[in-house]
Amino acid sequence: MCLFWLVSPRPPPCGCLACWHCYGCFLLFPFTPKIVDISVPRIAAWNSDELPIYEPGLDKVVKACRGKNLFFSTEVDQGIRDADIIFVAVNTPTKKVGMGAGRAADLTYWELAARRIASVAETPKVVVEKSTVPIKTAEAISAVLHGAGKTRFDVLSNPEFLAEGTAMTDLDNPDRVLIGGNMNESGNAAVAKLADVYAHWVPRERILTTNVWSSELSKLVANSFLAQRVSSINAVSAICEASGADVDEVARAVGMDSRIGSKFLKASVGFGGSCFQKDILNLVYLCQSMGLADVAEYFHSVVTMNDRQKERFVSRIIHGLFNTVTGKRIALLGFAFKKDTGDTRESASIEICRRLIEERASVCIYDPKVEADQIWMDLTAATKLDKTEVQKYVTLCDSAYEAALGAHALAIATEWDEFKTLDYDKIQEDMVKPSFVFDGRNVLDHGALRELGYIVYAIGKPLDPKLNTSINC
Ligand code: UDX
Repeated sequence: MCLFWLVSPRPPPCGCLACWHCYGCFLLFPFTPKIVDISVPRIAAWNSDELPIYEPGLDKVVKACRGKNLFFSTEVDQGIRDADIIFVAVNTPTKKVGMGAGRAADLTYWELAARRIASVAETPKVVVEKSTVPIKTAEAISAVLHGAGKTRFDVLSNPEFLAEGTAMTDLDNPDRVLIGGNMNESGNAAVAKLADVYAHWVPRERILTTNVWSSELSKLVANSFLAQRVSSINAVSAICEASGADVDEVARAVGMDSRIGSKFLKASVGFGGSCFQKDILNLVYLCQSMGLADVAEYFHSVVTMNDRQKERFVSRIIHGLFNTVTGKRIALLGFAFKKDTGDTRESASIEICRRLIEERASVCIYDPKVEADQIWMDLTAATKLDKTEVQKYVTLCDSAYEAALGAHALAIATEWDEFKTLDYDKIQEDMVKPSFVFDGRNVLDHGALRELGYIVYAIGKPLDPKLNTSINC
């Protein structure tokens, strides 16, 4: 059997990572996955020693399989002709212009991929939606495929639930695999064919099959629920700061109720990533288009709360530093949206940085994995300033120590493990006094830092008596 993955020429959405990992599983089984992409440099990177994305454990899998039963190619049409199952994992970003701008998913790449498949395919194909799409996309894609094609197509929804940074283990051991198909004979056969692929490494009881719309909707709802938990605990963090409660203690007490569960209750500077905000906005748009204004408003408040959490963090920095950061040096530690990834999409650091630039602070950024070009791209887009203008306020550093030189404050925006073991005594020697730490991830030992003389703010923790708290954030 031959499997064929069509990926976009743009940075892969989180779902694409699944493809890369599955190769590891496929190596053991009678499949030959071919990954095709119209982007020549991207495929060249996949065929080189420097893979185009960072994901722990990924290189090992790719290097072990590549050239054996895993192939990367730009021969899109040949790939389509040879495949039995086509996984489409193109980018589906939020629409920037036109109807639904800012909320709806842009399906341009999906439609282009479908038209290409339709024009080339000569034998029946199972076409699998791997990208996150609004509900009813399968129906629309099926119409495109059958309208323009000359063979039979069965469109399945098979949403990806892996998280970046833990993609490989998530795929080895998924909570569930979801496959949605049309409830007719050929749809059922297509679902069974895909289920058989997964059954090589996933226990059958964890492979759920549903109708295609339930599957498409489940992905949006799963991400909205996860994001909702983060926004809920972040809302609680504001109450904790105002009341003297400790958000981690509250999260522990609440999470030990097995009906609630302990995961996704870590208060933070705000969630990021390519999925949460995009999928919630997608769900909001869907509700609005169905005339469910109050349901739309309910889900939208998750994003509003997240924006507020980022602003709260910046306000704590400004008020903490005696109500102004103009001309003050702030070391921003971490730019990725979470640890163990170089991905910055919707990262809280972007908004924090934009606000600090607006306040005319001098920001020194260090992240162990994010590329410099990516940071400049994110900041020019967020501030609408050109790079030279941004560079008046922002410096990129090669280490946390360099970023902290002469800084008034350290702001932890990503929970990278290496930030936990820095020599904070040494760091303080080179900082302006009093030295501040704003821990946006609650990863540091705040008691130890206070003993060293730092003034420390941590999300949802009892406030440091030395911190200016005249304004409640
Ligand atoms: C998410 C879903 O978890 C995954 O199932 C889906 O396939 C894609 O979207 P991902 O975006 O990779 O995965 O990261 P995730 O681990 O969910 O974290 C998202 C954001 O929430 C990160 O910024 C993270 O730091 C933040 N977060 C997560 C918190 O702030 N607190 C938490 O308790 C958990």
